[in-house]
Amino acid sequence: MYSSIVLEHFQNPHNQGVIPDADTMGQVGNPVCGDIMKLYLKFRESDKDKPVEQRIIEDIKFETLGCGAAIASTSMLTDLAKGKTVAEALKVTKQDVADALGGLPAVKVHCSILATEALEKAIEEYKNNLQLKK
Ligand code: FES
Repeated sequence: MYSSIVLEHFQNPHNQGVIPDADTMGQVGNPVCGDIMKLYLKFRESDKDKPVEQRIIEDIKFETLGCGAAIASTSMLTDLAKGKTVAEALKVTKQDVADALGGLPAVKVHCSILATEALEKAIEEYKNNLQLKK
């Protein structure tokens, strides 16, 4: 049912955990199953005067109460987004994540949405907080 890449990421997730001094965190819930995803981001310090889209994602970690497919998808997303600019990371689609995992069973595609939505939410929260500080 799952590809070997999915199983590998599920059994040994990359970038799982919390970034205590994260610049932002995005939390989303999956309306289909009720599972939760939290994604933490830390931007490169030397980029702090650049527009948000041009900042490099230096560190990214996730915590989830989701299923194996959600864990594998987010593990893969963190690999795809780490070291990229915010603009590049936001271009990663749930299809890119599923493709990089060697495909997901159709009934599990909704689980992969948590990863990209949590990333979008974390960036959105960061921008909102910047607005509030102005
Ligand atoms: Fe809830 Fe997969 S069943 S995220």
